[in-house]
Amino acid sequence: MTINNERVYVRGLKDVAAAQTRISFVDPLGALYYSGYDIDRLVGRVCYEEVVHLLLNNKLPNQRELDDTKTLLTSEMKIPKQIVKSLKRAPANAHPVEILRTEMSHLGEYDPHPNDDSESTNKKRALSLIAKVPTIVANYHRIREKQEILRPKKEYGFAENFLYLFRGKVADKEEIESMDRFMILHADHGLNASTFAGRVTASTLSDMYSAVTSAIGTLRGRLHGGASERVMNMLVDVNSPEEVEAYIQGMLFDGKKIMGFGHRVYLRGDPRARHLRKVGKSLCERTGKMALYRKARGIQAVVHREKKIYPNVDFYAAIVLNALGVPSKFFAPFFASSRITGWTAHIIEQYSDSVLIRPTSTYIGAYGTKFVPIERRV
Ligand code: COA
Repeated sequence: MTINNERVYVRGLKDVAAAQTRISFVDPLGALYYSGYDIDRLVGRVCYEEVVHLLLNNKLPNQRELDDTKTLLTSEMKIPKQIVKSLKRAPANAHPVEILRTEMSHLGEYDPHPNDDSESTNKKRALSLIAKVPTIVANYHRIREKQEILRPKKEYGFAENFLYLFRGKVADKEEIESMDRFMILHADHGLNASTFAGRVTASTLSDMYSAVTSAIGTLRGRLHGGASERVMNMLVDVNSPEEVEAYIQGMLFDGKKIMGFGHRVYLRGDPRARHLRKVGKSLCERTGKMALYRKARGIQAVVHREKKIYPNVDFYAAIVLNALGVPSKFFAPFFASSRITGWTAHIIEQYSDSVLIRPTSTYIGAYGTKFVPIERRV
């Protein structure tokens, strides 16, 4: 920390609290709470739709509220035909995060009540976005693969519908449960980079689509949502579990960061990674991908031994998504398809605080520089 111009500069805003929230708490000692509930108590006991209701309303739903949330989410999965057309015109080799970022902005043009920024309309808008992001992701994938675009089924749960729209086949019970857990574990995570970006935009009282577009923009970076795609590249690069040691030692020797490891807040490991490791192991066992899982375990052991750091959510998310048949370029869009719940909850919370987020900077440039006319500049 340096003090300059009588201002405190904290590099990367590390440990600076830039908002007050009731939505989630990231405990450095290795726990994550959603509206007061430890995720260890929620995973395996609730479905993703219950978490959606919890994060948006700060309370778990009763049966009627859950039924309503489920019905609404399924009915809101349909996207405007202009968005489908735009997806069809998009380059087939674009990064899916770029497509999602563009279409989120585009979706704002079709809001039925663009001038209504009441909290009740914003909650409906949030549910609509929570439903539509997975559809945009799935539709773009189907279009890229030159496959038919599918419609969600009323009788399916949300995670089940997402897998169905994306892969075009009926998922079995374990796949649905795995996807549901993946979505629950990615639903929110305090003031991470994307949520902060969304809150900054919302703090200008800009609209929800603009705020979510800002949030999606941060996922293009490899230090945030882009890490899991690179984890997969690394797992493919390492030929066998036996090669792990030399591969990781080589990367560390070259001063490279190992993707999917380390965390700004957690000091003793990321609780989401513990859950996803179990889900990933089980999926790898049944899909004949145990070599992949063993490579991951080997990497975890070497990185921990050498750097004393733990895997974060992105490490085992890569294993889970790969075993579910999701191509690595779509890993970050799958993250976004769940984190949209947290983003919209935080955006609504930010509106209720209505304070402009506008920090300052410490100036480290020159003073009193002598002006030189253009014809004399070298
Ligand atoms: N591989 C190797 N070393 C790592 C590392 C990694 N993934 N993550 C942190 N470190 C080391 C750093 O080199 C640094 O060591 P040093 O003090 O000897 O220089 C120390 O741990 C602190 O790292 P730093 O990058 O300063 O921490 P941060 O809080 O700024 O960054 C992350 C947190 C997540 C950005 C960082 O751990 C990282 O880049 N991880 C890889 C990307 C990733 O998985 N992102 C997803 C996050 S959920």
